[in-house]
Amino acid sequence: MTPPPAPQVLPEDAVSAAVPPPGTPLVEARGITRRFGALTALAGVDLDIRAGEVLALLGDNGAGKTTFVKVLAGAHPASSGTLRIGGEAVQFASPKDAARAGIATIYQELALSENLTVAENVFLGQELTRRILGVPFLRRAEMRSRVAGLLRTLDAHIHDTRALVGGLSGGQRQAVAIARALHLKARVVIMDEPTAALAVAETRKVLSLARRLAEQGCAVVLISHNISDVFEVADRMCVFRRGHKIAERTRAETDPDEIVSLITGAHPAARAIDEQHNNRRG
Ligand SMILES: Nc1ncnc2c1ncn2[C@@H]1O[C@H](COP(=O)(O)OP(=O)(O)OP(=O)(O)O)[C@@H](O)[C@H]1O
Ligand SMILES: [Mg+2]
Repeated sequence: MTPPPAPQVLPEDAVSAAVPPPGTPLVEARGITRRFGALTALAGVDLDIRAGEVLALLGDNGAGKTTFVKVLAGAHPASSGTLRIGGEAVQFASPKDAARAGIATIYQELALSENLTVAENVFLGQELTRRILGVPFLRRAEMRSRVAGLLRTLDAHIHDTRALVGGLSGGQRQAVAIARALHLKARVVIMDEPTAALAVAETRKVLSLARRLAEQGCAVVLISHNISDVFEVADRMCVFRRGHKIAERTRAETDPDEIVSLITGAHPAARAIDEQHNNRRG
């Protein structure tokens, strides 16, 4: 008699098994429009975001970058347009819905708890427990070692997962927020101006974290006003102006001069949008 097949035990961290091959579109945005009263903050944006890439969003102040990622992250509903995640049409009613679909946002003002440790922050709301005589106990050692593993994957220089987040530098906090996103199995990680308040060395670390995430198979959406940072880390760039996507380029297809001219308005594609805008007002 043949023995029954052994039950298949998947390791708890079988994330890599679920990672789609690089280049797979994780997000397909089509015709995304967002109005705030009379103002059109986003006007029919089409954009794919792919596994394994760092995609930079650029544009002048008020161009619509944050509004776009907020639609993606479930913080604002789109006024019209469709969003597909992993090929399925979605409508997010809240950031929780987006998080469940694997979209994590790391805002400048990070939602971390200062008075909790690194490990506690990563597991916040999802603590591992074991019951002894029906009483739940936290599996602290296990949580710490998992967090240490995540931080190693990210090559983040945080040596003690028992350190309080309140005592960490800005760059280290970014690393904790990113570890949390990975722990929650985020597929798309949005970073809205993550380095705006950081010193040079810390900025370097956060940029290398963004690359690491992409190497892990995530799609990273990075908003930045710093052209040299963008050229250092992004595979593709997308420029917004007056709510329109006016250009999309791979790094090899463009150079800093072209991107700057698209942002400042000197480029013909930017001038065309300005003209449209002025005609409508005139
Ligand atoms: N909640 C809101 N209510 C009303 N108007 C808004 C709201 N959020 C954004 N806007 C407007 O939408 C437009 C796009 O803003 P958005 O924040 O997306 O720009 P941005 O490209 O992120 O700019 P920045 O580089 O300054 O961060 C702006 O004109 C802004 O004033
Ligand atoms: Mg913004």
